[in-house]
Amino acid sequence: MVSERVYDREALIAAAARARESAYAPYSKFKVGAALLTGGGGVFTGCNVENASSGATICAERTAVVKAVSEGERDFVALAVVTDVPRPASPCGICRQVLVEFNPALPVIMANLAGEYRVERADTLLPLAFTQEAMDRP
Ligand code: THU
Repeated sequence: MVSERVYDREALIAAAARARESAYAPYSKFKVGAALLTGGGGVFTGCNVENASSGATICAERTAVVKAVSEGERDFVALAVVTDVPRPASPCGICRQVLVEFNPALPVIMANLAGEYRVERADTLLPLAFTQEAMDRP
């Protein structure tokens, strides 16, 4: 069993809430912030960045992942995602797929600005995920 590594849940939620303020969401008006803790102790934040061409929009979670990976960090310890809705939003399907790629056991903290949260593993959020092993041939 791979045990969960230690992380400061409240600090990660606070970092995601701060990142949310940078969201570029003129179309949906739905601001999302994310904060990703890496094994090196760094925190990579992200926000959603929308586009007039809707499909070009990138979610907060993927912004954070792409920032971390492009800085050489692929060891992910925990992710917080913050929205301002009564029931904390969970990552979209594309983001789940991207999170599972790097750490299926990643704790995903879904929180809102009222301080409510729930935590689920990335692979619980994406059962039967398509992974590299799925392409193995005997
Ligand atoms: N969004 C995220 O940033 N993360 C999610 O997990 C769900 C959706 C963004 C995309 C878009 O800018 C807005 O929320 C509404 O879909």
